[in-house]
Amino acid sequence: MDSLTAAMKERLWSAAEAAAKIAYAPYSKFYVGAALLTEQGEIVSGCNVENASYGLTSCAERTAVFRAIAEGRLSNKIRIAAIAVVNLDHQRSSPCGACRQVLAEFGPEAIVLFESDGSRHEATLSALLPESFRL
Ligand code: THU
Repeated sequence: MDSLTAAMKERLWSAAEAAAKIAYAPYSKFYVGAALLTEQGEIVSGCNVENASYGLTSCAERTAVFRAIAEGRLSNKIRIAAIAVVNLDHQRSSPCGACRQVLAEFGPEAIVLFESDGSRHEATLSALLPESFRL
């Protein structure tokens, strides 16, 4: 994946929005969707999945990563090229710290597309999480 085209960014935004619409967030009512692009050009989406035991909640970004791994579409060799994150309220929402660490495992140089009060932003994961933890 050499470059992230404007058309591909639009596809990621759309896939993330579609995922947000099916989020399971009855407690916070903050519906989040994420869509990651693998280096092989595949898009894998995920939504937040909450639980009555609040701490068991999975964020949309981690749902997408775990789904991609479980489906064999992400691995040590196939990394994350980019990920878009949206919420249905279109509030500022860059990936939380836990998700940044999980994303760093599979795409330290990934481009992260996120929203801030209706406008779209873009940053590298390494800028969002310098010095990520590694073994
Ligand atoms: N959430 C995400 O899905 N992604 C983030 O990066 C931050 C927060 C979810 C978790 C919870 O279901 C809801 O947003 C409110 O925190």
